[in-house]
Amino acid sequence: MKGAIVQCLGDLVKSRFGNKNWEDSLDKAGMSRTTFFTPIQNVDDQKVIKLLQSICSVLRISSVQASEAFGDYWMNVYAPKIYDGYYRGANSAKEFLLKMDGVHANVTDSIPFARPPRFGYEWLNDRTLIMTYKSHRGLTDIFIGLIKGVGKYYNEDLRISKLGKDRVQIVFTR
Ligand code: HEM
Repeated sequence: MKGAIVQCLGDLVKSRFGNKNWEDSLDKAGMSRTTFFTPIQNVDDQKVIKLLQSICSVLRISSVQASEAFGDYWMNVYAPKIYDGYYRGANSAKEFLLKMDGVHANVTDSIPFARPPRFGYEWLNDRTLIMTYKSHRGLTDIFIGLIKGVGKYYNEDLRISKLGKDRVQIVFTR
């Protein structure tokens, strides 16, 4: 997985919970306490999953809590700094989410063998969207945490329900 995800996790843990908790998480995941991640490097998926589990255990939080914190931080702090171009032209949570399939195909374009998540869209009515998550990684809670982060970014009250491992219903209020 792209190092951006891990760098964002690190920034989140360090800024909200302190350097020691981040170093303890790296250590628990079997990595050096001084490991440094850059956005474009590729990090082995298993290492990322292990690091996520270590963060949950060091901070004593559930994976749903960690996923929500990640989604919030990615959407509202990290991505606006390094991926600001993707926010341009989307004026609502709906418009932003509809761009996400193309953005993920695009952002990993230049990386050989990259397998970014892809998304499907099915409208039940003009306010209700079923968004399908297509990824071999099965990070459904992170998918949902990120959708919540989109709602916060656009200051919209989204009604989000998990319909299954790969399907989420989103009711937009505007
Ligand atoms: C500016 C906005 C965003 C950018 C630039 C972005 C970019 C990326 C990148 C580069 C990755 C790593 C992909 C890989 O290495 O294969 C990733 C992973 C992921 N993204 Fe996004 N993303 C954004 C917003 C979102 C949103 C809003 C969602 C949910 C609707 C989402 C869902 C995910 C998930 C679930 C993963 C984890 C990898 C997986 O499940 O396979 N992202 N994203």
